[in-house]
Amino acid sequence: MRKSIIAAAFASLAILPAAASGAEEPPHVDYSFAGVFGTFDPVQLQRGFQVYKEVCAACHSLKFVAFRNLGDAGGPHFTEAEVKALAAGYDVAAIDNETGEATTRKGLPSDHIPAPFPNEIAAKAANNGSAPPDLSLMAKAREGNASYIHAILTGYDHPVPEGVQVPEGGNYNPYFPGGVIAMPKPLSDGQVEYADASVPRTVDQYAKDVSAFLMWTAEPKMEVRKRVGFGAILFLGALSVLLYLSYRRVWRNVDH
Ligand code: HEC
Repeated sequence: MRKSIIAAAFASLAILPAAASGAEEPPHVDYSFAGVFGTFDPVQLQRGFQVYKEVCAACHSLKFVAFRNLGDAGGPHFTEAEVKALAAGYDVAAIDNETGEATTRKGLPSDHIPAPFPNEIAAKAANNGSAPPDLSLMAKAREGNASYIHAILTGYDHPVPEGVQVPEGGNYNPYFPGGVIAMPKPLSDGQVEYADASVPRTVDQYAKDVSAFLMWTAEPKMEVRKRVGFGAILFLGALSVLLYLSYRRVWRNVDH
């Protein structure tokens, strides 16, 4: 009896994640940052930022990222001049020094990337009642991480299965929990002009690049974490060898 309860508990655990979310597993993507030694590809992150800026930024904020972060090593690694120029391309809210009235000024590297909507109500009103969430930490907030975002962005062209009702303003996407997402298909082939003509201008490539970029925004210190982790393992390994050898030496004349 007890055995069957335990078995049932395990069985329900095994099917729970899939059953509860009702979403399909994201297909595997070969990211440069996968694995213990994986690192971000700065050129890919730069393309990913371009996709965010030209497409996603119309609806999604990226409030934890300051322009100067885009110059960090272990990230997109734009040059200082590029960061300055990028920031200056945005208008940010400011106060007029003489009249005290609200105005705008050109962005500085220390500014955070401005949000597309002034508040949640405006964001909802412009998007059929569903506010587009901030994307800064999204990649770490979802199971599947970057590949989940890639799957969502490439998951729009599936036929709607029988029995699924897609309401007005909704879109079928099997990777989104529940299968119906309020975000309209955001990417199409050829939409973003990459400076490097050898990089395919496809939805799949855009999705890979922007999801890699969003993985970096969610964990900007990933490379440091991996380096430190590996160093710690090496150190502990060397320490174990030393300890074992000294144990042998200390006890060499003692019967035991
Ligand atoms: C026209 C507005 C619009 C654009 C452009 C847009 N999105 Fe969205 N996005 C939304 C809305 C609205 C939601 C909320 C969907 C919901 O809750 O059903 C959303 C949700 C999401 C989610 C969340 C899924 C989840 O698990 O909660 C991700 C990830 C996402 N968008 C990524 C992107 C990326 C990356 C881009 C650029 C390639 C992009 N979006 C472009 C409107 C947009």
